[in-house]
Amino acid sequence: MLPRGMIEVVSTPVLLLLGRGKDPESERGVDCPGDLPAPSDPGLVERARAAKEALGDRVFVLGHHYQRDEVIQFADVTGDSFKLAREAAARPGAEFIVFCGVHFMAESADILTSEAQKVVLPDLAAGCSMADMAVLAQVEKAWELLQDKGFADSTIPVTYMNSSADIKGFVGRNKGVVCTSSNAKRALEWAFSHAEKVLFLPDQHLGRNTAMLELGYSAQECVLYDPHKPNGGLTDEQLRGAKMILWRGHCSVHGRFTLECVNDARERVPGVNVLVHPECRHEVVTAADYVGSTEYIIKTIEAAQPGSAWAVGTELNLVRRLANAHPDKQIMFLDKTVCYCSTMNRIDLPHLVWALEELVAGRVPNQITVDPGTAHYARVALDQMLALP
Ligand code: 13P
Ligand code: SF4
Repeated sequence: MLPRGMIEVVSTPVLLLLGRGKDPESERGVDCPGDLPAPSDPGLVERARAAKEALGDRVFVLGHHYQRDEVIQFADVTGDSFKLAREAAARPGAEFIVFCGVHFMAESADILTSEAQKVVLPDLAAGCSMADMAVLAQVEKAWELLQDKGFADSTIPVTYMNSSADIKGFVGRNKGVVCTSSNAKRALEWAFSHAEKVLFLPDQHLGRNTAMLELGYSAQECVLYDPHKPNGGLTDEQLRGAKMILWRGHCSVHGRFTLECVNDARERVPGVNVLVHPECRHEVVTAADYVGSTEYIIKTIEAAQPGSAWAVGTELNLVRRLANAHPDKQIMFLDKTVCYCSTMNRIDLPHLVWALEELVAGRVPNQITVDPGTAHYARVALDQMLALP
């Protein structure tokens, strides 16, 4: 209890949980101004429909596969992060791109669309905890270390799409490439044809899984750079012997699946097929039957035999949607504990209605813009990805 008259200073993490305040460490904002409709408003579906209709072809709504059903029903197109960015770029006629996904995806859409198009993120607090694990100043420090040790000239930076525009810009400036979970193998093959080592950002699991399972590198050749430790926690010896310098980042959703989850699913459902995303830990991916990107997971389930059983290790909104769409197949979540991507879930129907109605009223809410300097080099790294053989 504080003495009378004193104001309690609420700590930053508490404020952030409430979706208020500013987080200097985050690639996204945490404020969401605006007069949001109540989630209990029974007219929300009708309001979203009416606002979308009023905007017509001026608006194009993108929905990532991990979005809630209440939002996905209004998406003009659904897809993974890369497909959505391309879809936005392929709609030069749409004045407004409403991105139902997370901040780094909206940034990529802004980079790939024309000056005239405005990208809107219905809730600025929809960020990505993995993207936040690689901050530009930390990455520049890591690069300086590689320069000091004489390794930078023989290293190419590769960043996963799930990173901030700043990081993509860094990678573009240093002659690297962006990759997605569908083309990580090709991106690494390209990088290793130009250099001895790769600095892989920010997802250690996608980097390790691709390097070890697809390119045949050993665990010793994949070292982990921890931005919170001096010299990344690595000795000169480790750096010298490394092929992959993996950034210590991970996805808080996919990182939850464990080997026990896989064993447990196999015990509960004999003959079950275990299908996981490459953002899962190495031991999970190794124990699984099938591994691939979100789009791969969807295609695999679509092509599966009726009656077959699947334990799927990816975000729950998608797994549930797949289960509903394929009642002839037994589709279950790999973990027994429910887990959504909490930041993806920030975009809900009230935020979508608010964003669309603001556009109808002639205001552009929560516009995501990337500064031209960063956008230029981020585009270089994205274009390099598009040019991969
Ligand atoms: P994709 O959308 O590229 O499959 O990535 C998965 C993910 O975690 C998105 O945030
Ligand atoms: Fe980020 Fe993982 Fe959520 Fe994707 S699922 S937005 S990588 S935290």
